[in-house]
Amino acid sequence: MNMAHQANPLVDPRDKRLPRIAGPCGVVIFGVTGDLSRKKLMPAIYDLANRGLLPPGFALVGFARREWADEDFTELVHEAVREHARTPFREDVWAQLSEGIRFVPGSFEDDAAFDELAGCVAQLDQERGTGGNHAFYLAIPPAMFPVVLKQLARTGLAEQTDEQWRRVVIEKPFGHDLRSAQELNEIVNDVFPEESVYRIDHYLGKETVQNILALRFANQLYEPIWNSHYVDHVQITMAEDIGVAGRAGYYDGIGAARDVIQNHLIQLLALTTMEEPLSFSPESLRGEKIKVLSATGPVEPFEDTTARGQYLGGWQGGTKVPGVFEEGGLRPGSMTETFAAITLGVDNRRWAGVPFFLRTGKRLGRRVTEVAVIFKRAPHLPFEATMTEELGQNALVIRIQPDEGVTIRFGSKVPGTTMEVRGVTMDFRYGTAFTESSPEAYERLLLDVLRGEPSLFPVNAEVELSWKILDPVLEHWAKHGKPEPYSAGTWGPPSADRMIALTGRTWRRP
Ligand code: BG6
Repeated sequence: MNMAHQANPLVDPRDKRLPRIAGPCGVVIFGVTGDLSRKKLMPAIYDLANRGLLPPGFALVGFARREWADEDFTELVHEAVREHARTPFREDVWAQLSEGIRFVPGSFEDDAAFDELAGCVAQLDQERGTGGNHAFYLAIPPAMFPVVLKQLARTGLAEQTDEQWRRVVIEKPFGHDLRSAQELNEIVNDVFPEESVYRIDHYLGKETVQNILALRFANQLYEPIWNSHYVDHVQITMAEDIGVAGRAGYYDGIGAARDVIQNHLIQLLALTTMEEPLSFSPESLRGEKIKVLSATGPVEPFEDTTARGQYLGGWQGGTKVPGVFEEGGLRPGSMTETFAAITLGVDNRRWAGVPFFLRTGKRLGRRVTEVAVIFKRAPHLPFEATMTEELGQNALVIRIQPDEGVTIRFGSKVPGTTMEVRGVTMDFRYGTAFTESSPEAYERLLLDVLRGEPSLFPVNAEVELSWKILDPVLEHWAKHGKPEPYSAGTWGPPSADRMIALTGRTWRRP
């Protein structure tokens, strides 16, 4: 406990607004030469250190098949931090952090290298006071999980006691369908008990995603109309302007639905539709998500309720961009989709009959992620029909990124002598409402791992339920035809417009 707070009678030490600082600990990263480590993990660790949220003796160990000394790895971390950290570079922070950086060379099959890793971790406990508390971050392809987990078990690195914790952090893809996810979970749970497994869905670490819960449960305004009596439908969109070139090795064979819908978009749906949790404890929060996901399923027939596509060349903001095959993003003849849209339903009293349209794609019109709740029309409009021609449906749009905020759309009288009504918007923007800038998702999530706060990490059951929702669609796609082409810079293939038009609705053009 911080003595300064204890001494001040005006500060309640239980106050959750006090900085959440990690206790003595270290992180071992497997896959330090990959993009995720360089662009997200290493910068996030520095940013946490810079914000004073890591313990002074914090240790970072890299493990990879490189003939590097500690200094070489430290230089790699230094470059990653200089290039990608969110907060300003400070020599004193870096000096302290870099003292705790170590590197162990070796391949995942190499017993001697893992023995050396165990020795290194034990030595850090002596030298840096990490107290035996270590997180193992598997920033590696899932095919490598079994061998690394076996090594962690063999060397005793996965062993925890009452005095020391050991946690494993894994990244998606958590399998490629329900069966493989179950197999993967078994492999992980053989070595680490479920409460020590932290599955990263980085969307849950985003401020705006957590704000869905604040918006819904801290206010009186929205919850009474948050149901099928008032909501017409919900659109969850994650549009990206980037292509898949550069990530082809990962993306080809996976595609938009497995890459994004199975995790990020289904989690957004769960937060949007779940009942109020008793508290924000991990059990309550995950319990409510599990409940609503158990009631969620895809709407059929899939030839009318889903769409998928692959981008051709096109124009994006005045720049000519190549198609996914020309840029080597997919192998010739690949059936992997770069755009996916599906329709889900939530079979419970609150949501029965409300369609949830989820879509995501690469090389779309612009980068935007949002949850748009579209309300039914007023049951009666006491205006002449011509006066409401430009009145759309009421909508509440949670903008996850960019331009983070919330917009409400409603009808307003157009100034003048007639009673013409037109749709207008009321806007909340993080950028203007708050002075604090939002931490990166990985900062929040890494800190939660080190503090043992698992609320924002999906459990086994959530992952399996998401696959249960998606599997029937994937099976249908595997049997029927191929993805439809769409031009880069557009909003996806014509079949996406058709699927929503069949229900009498249209996609938003954010
Ligand atoms: C990842 C996907 O999970 O999320 C990528 O694998 C995608 O394909 C990325 O580009 C988008 O993340 P963000 O935070 O930029 O929206």
